[in-house]
Amino acid sequence: MRLLIIGCGAIGQTLAKEIDTMDEVDLFYITDKNEERAQQAVKSYRKAKFITNTDESIRAHLKHLDLVVEAASQEAVSHYVPFILGFGKDVLVMSVGAFANDELREKCFSLAKKKGGRLYVPSGAVCGTDGLHSASADKIDTVELVSTKGPKSFKDNPYLKSIGIDVDTLKEKTTIYEGSAREAIVHFPKNVNVSATISMLGLGLDKTKVKLICDPFSDCNSHRLVVKGVFGEIVAETENVPFPSNPATSYLAALSAIGAIKRIAGNVWIGI
Ligand SMILES: NC(=O)c1ccc[n+]([C@@H]2O[C@H](COP(=O)([O-])OP(=O)(O)OC[C@H]3O[C@@H](n4cnc5c(N)ncnc54)[C@H](O)[C@@H]3O)[C@@H](O)[C@H]2O)c1
Repeated sequence: MRLLIIGCGAIGQTLAKEIDTMDEVDLFYITDKNEERAQQAVKSYRKAKFITNTDESIRAHLKHLDLVVEAASQEAVSHYVPFILGFGKDVLVMSVGAFANDELREKCFSLAKKKGGRLYVPSGAVCGTDGLHSASADKIDTVELVSTKGPKSFKDNPYLKSIGIDVDTLKEKTTIYEGSAREAIVHFPKNVNVSATISMLGLGLDKTKVKLICDPFSDCNSHRLVVKGVFGEIVAETENVPFPSNPATSYLAALSAIGAIKRIAGNVWIGI
């Protein structure tokens, strides 16, 4: 199996370390808009090669690849993912918040269907996506996501400034947003991935409810997913440990990508 990782930050490097040990993988490429970072990174892995971060370079390698992993940014999703799916290649997307854009999401979903390349979106930093997916085969009444994060995650947020909230002065856990997932994504673009994943699986961006809580005494990112429907009720709680190199990213997100790649490589899917 041959892969390309786009983005060698917290998630990309964690993935690279694991992929390097997988028997199913004979070679993988790494690219990053910070080419120096990618060139440095490949030195740490036996099976890794650097490629330049240009469309020509990615296009030239695409035909030899089994899977492209995007672990970069929403901008990278809108730039590369339609292009990769247009070639009928499989792609795994981490910056799933990009799919809050209706036009991009529909374009990518339709390309996957027409051209045969698979579009994988791992569960990321949240648990309960498996149950939500199963539950959505019948009627779901409500989907609510409550995310609690420390002040660092909300620092310099223009929306909070506009409503007079300074997260650095909070003395207790405070609800700073309550509303639709679509609006949450507009006001809190840095907290978009989990809301987008949950919305796509369940009731969509307008009907999925999101509550954001700032906890001045915590640096952890926690998510409580509550789903009610014909099947009964799911309450899934996740207490995430952040990456030291990027506190905005939960370690579980990288592990979810590793888990997905192992399933893809092994061709056995349990608990989907
Ligand atoms: N699905 C989830 O639940 C979840 C959870 C955490 C993070 N994420 C997302 O995954 C992505 C990666 O997270 P991370 O913590 O590794 O980020 P990071 O900032 O540590 O690393 C991102 C890397 O990608 C590179 N990059 C950015 N745009 C690029 C582009 N257009 N082309 C090539 N390289 C580019 C950057 O230079 C950087 O090296 C982010 O978009 C983040 O929002 C998703």
